[in-house]
Amino acid sequence: MPQIQTPPRLDLRALHRSYEGREVVSGVSLTIRAGEVCCLLGPSGCGKSTTLRMVAGVEHQDAGEILVDGERISGPGRHLPAEKRRIGLMFQDFALFPHLSVAENVAFGLTGSRAEKRARVEELLTRVDLIRYIDDYPHGLSGGEQQRVALARALAPKPRVMLMDEPFSGLDNRLRDGIRDQTLDLLKEEGTAVLLVTHEPEEAMRMADEIALMRGGRIVQQGAPYNIYNAPVDREAVAFFSDINVIRGRVQGALTETPFGQFLAPGLPDGAEVEIVIRPQHLSIDFDRGGTGPLPTAARGTPARGIVQRARFMGNESLVEFRMDHDGSILKATVPNVFLPRPGKPLWLTIRRDRCFVFPA
Ligand SMILES: Nc1ncnc2c1ncn2[C@@H]1O[C@H](COP(=O)(O)OP(=O)(O)O)[C@@H](O)[C@H]1O
Ligand SMILES: [Mg+2]
Repeated sequence: MPQIQTPPRLDLRALHRSYEGREVVSGVSLTIRAGEVCCLLGPSGCGKSTTLRMVAGVEHQDAGEILVDGERISGPGRHLPAEKRRIGLMFQDFALFPHLSVAENVAFGLTGSRAEKRARVEELLTRVDLIRYIDDYPHGLSGGEQQRVALARALAPKPRVMLMDEPFSGLDNRLRDGIRDQTLDLLKEEGTAVLLVTHEPEEAMRMADEIALMRGGRIVQQGAPYNIYNAPVDREAVAFFSDINVIRGRVQGALTETPFGQFLAPGLPDGAEVEIVIRPQHLSIDFDRGGTGPLPTAARGTPARGIVQRARFMGNESLVEFRMDHDGSILKATVPNVFLPRPGKPLWLTIRRDRCFVFPA
């Protein structure tokens, strides 16, 4: 059967935006399908909110276009005003109208008969588990409850696209996970396309079908959370998600020789400097047996010895810092559960070849 290709719900094409001659968004392109959550993830100042504001229509791009369901809503010669875009917004400092009841807040953007509006308000408040507060005023609600009212309000008019800018960062930690999950369930049920901005990798991993990793105004990598985490494009992309260890080396015959044995460096010319990047959980630790470590293997290379500097229990894991014999560098390893060797103890470290990343320096 021939597949009918529907256009993506949201389609950003090469968006650019400068302030005072400095480009803060440089060619951002991405597509999101209905029912999908895409997270724009990156450090503060990388251009996430600016991108979102252009989609919302409160800011105008210098170049590029924005399409919703295949229709150009913004681009050269066209700029559909924000209120006509049928795009829902939710920001960190979401403000409910204090003088309106919960029901009136949720009904705010709705059209239709009184009965239709009331039905939609009741439906959403039931789904965010706040129907009992329908006739209360916002000031009596907790932060988390107000957040859920704001979500219901944003979703009430059935927006084609939902834009969320750090929506959970004002909530305290214990509340946040539950509200994230509930929000995600509701967004999925509504089948809207979601563009969610965050600087927190855990939040992106938890919420996103797809992550667009942003840096300096550009999307440097885009893909499913699993792929972004396990096939990062560069050292910074690894470091954005976790602590890292870096070992430097030089390429000879597509290999790099190090105190941990050889690493493949395919496609890199002789003499090129490389960085081998390893997450602390991917260093393996072995005991010292009278001055020698475990035998070299293909999967883990050659062991190198280090002296424990400190070991700390972190709850789910233990963090052990080593000073390496061969160059005095510090490497960090994490181990599940409790592993607290005494400072001064010699141990041997190996690096799993399938869990490290080799990048040109
Ligand atoms: N209205 C503005 N005028 C001038 N500079 C701005 C304006 N808005 C944002 N910027 C600058 O653009 C860059 C990107 O900002 P922003 O999109 O808010 O980043 P993010 O949301 O990723 O933290 C920052 O350096 C910020 O200072
Ligand atoms: Mg921002």
